[in-house]
Parts: sequence; structure tokens; C-alpha cells
Amino acid sequence: MGIVGAGFVGPHHIDAVRRLGYVDVVAVAGSNQASADRKAEALGARRAYGSYEKLLDDPDVQVVHNATPNYLHYPINAAAIAKGKHVVSDKPLAMTAAEAKKLLDQATKAGIVHAVTFNYRGNPLVQQGRLAIARGDIGKPHFLVGQYLQDWLLKETDYSWRLEPDKGGASSALGDIGSHWCDLAQHMSGLRITHVLGDITTVLPKRKRPKGSREAFATAGANEPLEEVEIKVEDLASVLLRFDNGAKGSFSVGQVCAGHKNDLELEICGSKASLKWRQEHQNELWLGHRDTANEILQKDPSLIDADARGYAHLPGGHQEAWADAFANLMRDIYGFIAAGRKPTDAHPPAFATFEDGYRANCIVEAILESAAKGSAWTKVND
Ligand SMILES: NC(=O)c1ccc[n+]([C@@H]2O[C@H](COP(=O)([O-])OP(=O)(O)OC[C@H]3O[C@@H](n4cnc5c(N)ncnc54)[C@H](O)[C@@H]3O)[C@@H](O)[C@H]2O)c1
Repeated sequence: MGIVGAGFVGPHHIDAVRRLGYVDVVAVAGSNQASADRKAEALGARRAYGSYEKLLDDPDVQVVHNATPNYLHYPINAAAIAKGKHVVSDKPLAMTAAEAKKLLDQATKAGIVHAVTFNYRGNPLVQQGRLAIARGDIGKPHFLVGQYLQDWLLKETDYSWRLEPDKGGASSALGDIGSHWCDLAQHMSGLRITHVLGDITTVLPKRKRPKGSREAFATAGANEPLEEVEIKVEDLASVLLRFDNGAKGSFSVGQVCAGHKNDLELEICGSKASLKWRQEHQNELWLGHRDTANEILQKDPSLIDADARGYAHLPGGHQEAWADAFANLMRDIYGFIAAGRKPTDAHPPAFATFEDGYRANCIVEAILESAAKGSAWTKVND
């Protein structure tokens, strides 16, 4: 494999594929040669390229991982497909649904394997919940509710390329973390979001941008030179949802919510029972009952369904976490590639494709459209 972009999440892609034992980390491409050299050395990659084009020309690279800022997803993914490489793209798949659709069509035509890292799918209890719902354990789902809250953009000196529309896209919080929530809700429930009503807010319309570069999620340094900039994209949003089985739902996203670090929570209420999964307590699945005591299922391979067991690698009481779920994703994706499966074959569950990525882009766009119309119900195009 070769990876383009090794900032925050890129090294986790490398860590995850290394755990598989049969993937060779051939090369890292950075924004320039000096940074690529530094990253390749730190990450133990054999080759360093100062541009993604050079990495794509390397015949030893069969799978390209794209962990660059959002505005580079489309051009790099498109160039990788044109070279016949399999592509693992980080989310959101593209800046717009139109771009995501082009990538999906191009990848389908080229016959390459395409994946998007909606990594919460890789958690064993997410898979357990998905199987339980499919089996009918909670009855017919009628309400999906939750949130994805963080606090790393709470201060006016907090800054990220995610806040610049030309780098992050027309949406910030919704595209960045709302896309995860929507994918997870659809994946666990097996339903599709068909209509949205969005209310979006920019809590901090002015921020102090660092004049130099700063690592992702880092806070401002004491004497760091800063400049005031206007912010147009949302850092907070609430959304009402309708699903294709008639279920209703809602979720909120925000990156200005003190105390919430990576607080993704999804509850699905059905005609018989409810089920809730929280990322920050990801080794527990809450099961809500009407006539008997509620339950908490602790992650334990011996207590979960056989089909979810492959996502759990430690006995009960041994906590598994974010990076383990990320590795599960890579296990599903690379297992599929290594087995020589066709992109049109059925995918293992933690493996989201460009089709799922396109779907998430469509939902985010529909929410922005709804908000622009004064919070009117809006159909999700597909
Ligand atoms: N799946 C997840 O849970 C998850 C988590 C974090 C980020 N992400 C996604 O991953 C992507 C990267 O996010 P991040 O937080 O790692 O950002 P980041 O800013 O920390 O890292 C981006 C890296 O890309 C490099 N880069 C920029 N231009 C480049 C170019 N032309 N060629 C090669 N490298 C270049 C930067 O130098 C930096 O090292 C984003 O799209 C984000 O949405 C996903």
C-alpha cells in the first residue's frame, strides 16, 4: 500500500494495515519531499514521495490510501483510479455529492476495489447491534436519535482547514462528523435516510487563524502569530430525519461543546426494545426493555453472535477501542482485495464503499439545502 497524507489519521491507516501481517507499506507521499521523508522515516515506510503523482507511478503500490484534507480527495482518488489502483479514501468521500458520484462511476467502470473509512462500523458491538436489529430483536425501528459532539473547536483560537470551504467543503461539522453518524445510523438499522430538516449554526463567526502551520487538534501556542478570519461554515447543527421504513429520528452535531471529546451516540428504538451504542463507552451495548430490566451487554466474544465475533479480538473485560475498530475495517477491505473478489461482490459489513461515501455526501448536501430554505423538509437525492 501507499498513503497520501500522514497527518492525524494517516498513521492510523498504516498501523491498521500493519496489524494484518501481509500488507507491505511501500510509500508515503507528502505535500513536499522534506515532509514525506520525515513521515516515511517516522512511520517506517520504504519510500517517500514529494507528490502524490509520484506515488501513483510506483508499480509496487497496489492500494492507495487517501488521508489528505477533503479538497484533495477528489483529484487524488480520481488519479489513483485512472492508474488502476484500489482506493481506500478517508471521509467525506468528496467535497460535493456530484464529485462523489463521479468517483463512484469512475471506480465502477475501472473495476477497482473502492472503500471509505466509516470506521465506527468496525466496532464489534456495532456489528452485534446491526445483527440484532436485522434479526428483529428490537422489532420494527421507529425512532433513531443521537449526537456526535466534540469540543476541540470551542475557543476562538481553535482552528482547522475544516473551517475553510475551499479545503473542507461547504459544510464543516456535518461533513466531518455528521457523515459518520448518518452512515452508522443507516448501517446499524439497515434503513436509509430519505428526508432531512436541518438547522445549522456558526457559533463562532470569527476565529483567530494561526499564521503558520499547526498540527491537527493542537491548541494555540502562547506566542503563536494569529490573524482574525470570518467563518462561514457550521460548527453546530440539529437535524430531523425521516427513514425509508417510516421511522423518524434526529441528531445533533457540534464541535463547540465543552467536555464532549468524541461523543458519538446512537439509539435505535423499535416496537419491542431499544438499543444504544456510545463511542466513548464502546465496549457496552445498552438494551432497553419495557417489561423486564434493561441490560448492558459487555463486549465479550463468547457473548456476542458468531457473525460479530470476528470483530472482537480480546476476551471480555479487555477493552477494545477506536484503533481496533479501524483495524477491523482494514481486515474487511484487504481480505476482500486479497481474495481477488470483484468490486460488485457482496462486501463484508465494516467495509463501506464509494456508494456509501456518495450517500453520505448526498445527505449532508440535503441538510445544507434544507437549512438554506429556512429549515424546510428536503429529499435526499440519490
Ligand atoms: N475516519 C476518521 O475517523 C477520520 C479521523 C480524522 C480525519 N479523517 C479524515 O481524514 C482526512 C485527513 O484528516 P486529518 O485529521 O488527518 O488532517 P491533517 O491535517 O492532520 O492531515 C492531513 C495531511 O495531509 C497532508 N497533505 C496536505 N496536502 C498534501 C498533498 N498535496 N499531498 C500529500 N499530502 C498532503 C498534510 O501535510 C497533512 O500531513 C480528512 O479528510 C478527514 O475528514 C477521518
